[in-house]
Amino acid sequence: MPSGAQSPQLPNTLTFSVGTIPVFGDLILSPMEGFSDMPFRSICREQGSAMSYTEFINALDVIQGNPRVLKKLTFLTAERPVVFQIFDNEPARLLEAALRLQEFGPDIIDVNMGCSVRRVSGRGAGAGLLRTPVKVARIFRTLYRELEVPLSAKIRLGWDEESRNYCLIARIIEENGGALIAVHGRTKEQGYGGQADWDAIGEIKQAVSIPVIGNGDVRTVADIERLKTHTACDGIMIGRAAVGNPWIFARRDREQVPPGEVQEMVSRHLARMLDFYGEERGLILFRKHAKRYLSVYPLSSEQRYRFLTTESPTELAQMLDLIVP
Ligand SMILES: Cc1cc2nc3c(=O)[nH]c(=O)nc-3n(C[C@H](O)[C@H](O)[C@H](O)COP(=O)(O)O)c2cc1C
Repeated sequence: MPSGAQSPQLPNTLTFSVGTIPVFGDLILSPMEGFSDMPFRSICREQGSAMSYTEFINALDVIQGNPRVLKKLTFLTAERPVVFQIFDNEPARLLEAALRLQEFGPDIIDVNMGCSVRRVSGRGAGAGLLRTPVKVARIFRTLYRELEVPLSAKIRLGWDEESRNYCLIARIIEENGGALIAVHGRTKEQGYGGQADWDAIGEIKQAVSIPVIGNGDVRTVADIERLKTHTACDGIMIGRAAVGNPWIFARRDREQVPPGEVQEMVSRHLARMLDFYGEERGLILFRKHAKRYLSVYPLSSEQRYRFLTTESPTELAQMLDLIVP
């Protein structure tokens, strides 16, 4: 680590438990397809993210043995507690996939009930499950009976403004064996528009006695404290604002991080990507992170273009020296 780099102090007091699984710390990296892979999760975990959620995994891919799933299931021991997140609309398929996934050693299995994209929610999976509370009960009852690991859910507030059934859904999850609920304070219809409704997250916290993680629109350290105070949630989940700022899990805003640390982090993250995905794919997948790490620096459009298109990790490292003052 370069001089001046801060090594974050990881929390060592119990914050909440998910069934039998203890969680130390109140900040958690959101599951994010295309972002929350092992390299990024492990980096956020080192900064203080208290659990590692995988990107969502299609139950059908698990059942059909799609080899791409294996990458998503790879985790470091230091990431534990690890949560494997699955999605489907069929209770039987969810069960079969969950049983197979259990063999890979997760601490918790999570059912995605929040994905708003049409190919998922349109077939009744992800946020589509919010429209079928009876099915939600069946899914949780079945999985709870058959699984050895605790079960959790990540939900939204409802399908649309007219069907904000979040308290009902949260109670159903709890009554049927769910041990943790993470809630993104928007409806499916809202997508990522408008503002997350933190009042509603607070209502869920009051409605159930299992731990609740609040999520939506946390961008700064001040937002973390505001959402905690507003909702009394057990934990706070951070998604988009963590990309380019894993330091948020050490309760540091981006502008508090000196350039030397940014350089060191970019190099470390890139090295993990190259190691995990191989040189070519690793570099391509790293570009979206690089863009966010560098968003605060005044780059010329040529510099930005070269940085984001180079096919050589060595050239990227050299450019980094020039860009980060
Ligand atoms: C690119 C992207 C991918 C996402 N993928 C997932 C996913 O796989 N599973 C999931 O439960 N939520 C997913 N989400 C939703 C986030 O977990 C989170 O609920 C949402 O971004 C709101 O939190 P934020 O305001 O902190 O970003 C995704 C969000 C984004 C932006």
